[in-house]
Amino acid sequence: MSEIAKIELEGKFYEFPVITGTEDEKAIDISSLRSATGYITLDRGFKNTGSCMSAITFLDGEKGILRYRGYPIEQLAEEASFLEVTYLILKGELPTREQLANFEATIDKHTLVHEDMKRFFEAYPAQAHPMGILASMICSMSTFYPESQDPNRSKEMFDLSINRLLAKLPTLAAMVYKNAMRHPFMYPKNDLGYVENFMYMMYGMPTEEYTPSPVIAKALNKLLILHADHEQNCSASTVRIVGSSQANLYAAISAGISALWGPLHGGANQAVIEMLEMIQNDGGDLDKWIAKAKDKDDPFRLMGFGHRVYKNFDPRATIIKKACDDILDELGVQDPTLAIAKKLEEVALNDEYFKSRGLYPNVDFYSGIIYRAIGIPTEMFTVMFALGRLPGWIAQWQEMLDNNDPIGRPRQVYTGAVRRNYVPMDER
Ligand code: CMC
Repeated sequence: MSEIAKIELEGKFYEFPVITGTEDEKAIDISSLRSATGYITLDRGFKNTGSCMSAITFLDGEKGILRYRGYPIEQLAEEASFLEVTYLILKGELPTREQLANFEATIDKHTLVHEDMKRFFEAYPAQAHPMGILASMICSMSTFYPESQDPNRSKEMFDLSINRLLAKLPTLAAMVYKNAMRHPFMYPKNDLGYVENFMYMMYGMPTEEYTPSPVIAKALNKLLILHADHEQNCSASTVRIVGSSQANLYAAISAGISALWGPLHGGANQAVIEMLEMIQNDGGDLDKWIAKAKDKDDPFRLMGFGHRVYKNFDPRATIIKKACDDILDELGVQDPTLAIAKKLEEVALNDEYFKSRGLYPNVDFYSGIIYRAIGIPTEMFTVMFALGRLPGWIAQWQEMLDNNDPIGRPRQVYTGAVRRNYVPMDER
């Protein structure tokens, strides 16, 4: 017999169906609550609200579990390639060798960006943040492919937009970097793999031969996989909500990039390194910074700590911490901020304030140290996150459309002035 939740309001009982997910996750379906009772639910920040049914990513924050389409993140990060994981996330199953080869060949066809887009870069100030440029470039793509704006577009047109985005984001991300360095853009080299091609466009120069380092390619591949999806976070929910108005995919992904930019979300990777450097330059007194993080009158927070859903550990952080040690060893890089990060983690994990609130290092705590070791400038860190998260955003958008989810439109509890009459200017 299916479960029922009973809610008592003003002495009357109302019944609502209980929905159970494949991992036994329970939800009360309150979609008829307002029409039945006149009440809405209030949940600021959606801390306890499911906005959709999704078959992409499973996450258990208490147990530190993260799986894409059922496959544990630990196995994927160790064994798979980023495009293989992209295929899995988008299509629901791991590709065969032949399917992957076809997918890679399709992506290769679209790696060039329209030559006219190069001219946009000339207009940005030298100090422009890469995320601001990236979000506008992705939205601008919609203007080059107007057919993508037709809400009744065909399946072929959907797939074309998806492939274009997957293929062109690395090219655009590398162009953002080259523009900041005032270096010439590098055209993609399609005989290289997805990650290696990105490295070539980032680090290569037209004047010299460039061979991507396998050590760096392996580290980047792992980082991209770890970021590939994370169910209904701030940016994925943004992509779904923008897409639910039937805005085109480029507009929805551009909105996702903007949501990711904030320091409480993907922008935390940049904020962590800046924080570690600040602590180091300030003399490295960890107790002082821990005290500031605990002080409610002080805006300082320990960046890279805490998570809305992980309350014991972030499985991505566990993998990244190990990868960080390995890559620094392999490249022979000594990074003093790694020592500070490790000490800070140790102090915080033994502090009652952090323990009692379930605040642990998250994915962003160590990723910046790896990015820095492989030569990615701090302001580009969140762009790297976006590169990894793209398949997840696309899959969330696609699923929202496939499930016929209605336009996203929350309600509110109004707390403003009650009705009053307009007062003419000279009577105020
Ligand atoms: N430093 C100090 N105190 C913190 C921190 C922190 N980093 N994070 C949370 N708290 C405290 C917070 O003040 C609150 O205390 P109290 O109960 O006494 O009021 C309690 O812990 C719960 O925090 P919250 O802000 O209500 O939790 P949330 O779920 O709304 O926020 C968060 C989650 C990630 C925004 C927050 O932990 C944070 O700001 N962390 C730092 C930024 C960061 O690293 N973000 C990256 C997240 S992982 C990448 C991604 O997927 O986006």
